[in-house]
Amino acid sequence: MRIGVYPGTFDPITHGHTDIVVRSLRIFDHVIIAVAPNPRKQPLLDVAERVELAKLATQEFAQVQVEAFDGLLVHYVRQRGALAIIRGVRAFSDFEHEFQMALLNRNLDHQVETVFLMPSEEYSYLTSSVVKELAMLGGPLEAYVHPEVAKRLRRRFHPFAS
Ligand code: PNS
Repeated sequence: MRIGVYPGTFDPITHGHTDIVVRSLRIFDHVIIAVAPNPRKQPLLDVAERVELAKLATQEFAQVQVEAFDGLLVHYVRQRGALAIIRGVRAFSDFEHEFQMALLNRNLDHQVETVFLMPSEEYSYLTSSVVKELAMLGGPLEAYVHPEVAKRLRRRFHPFAS
């Protein structure tokens, strides 16, 4: 079975992420969405909530599993018996950082490959940060995230709104 690990902060999961999951399922039999705590990024949502929302957003796919992981990504990839790390690349500006991470991970473990996938153009501008900013400013969210994610973000930023 070909297993791929799709790691990220997923704070929160967006339609851009699920688009990458759908594309990954054309290559891998099983995809694990691996949610990193990533305290450096000071996430809005805690890991448990990010995992829960990623599960909700991908519940229609039986071949997708969502888990939190700690420590080095390459160790986790090995532990899960995965073939490769999956990363979405939206624009050239993403590339330098992704290239650095992929090479570092390959140096740490020569058996682990990184596969880059491009999301649909309609999501090429979409980031979790943009979604959080929209939520904070009371903008529309439904085109960008699962309805439950939209609800949670709204409640988070505007707890007293009707
Ligand atoms: O979606 P993000 O926030 O860009 O994801 C970054 C992530 C979680 C993939 C990266 O920070 C990571 O792999 N963290 C785990 C720790 C690790 O292995 N670091 C060394 C490789 S950069």
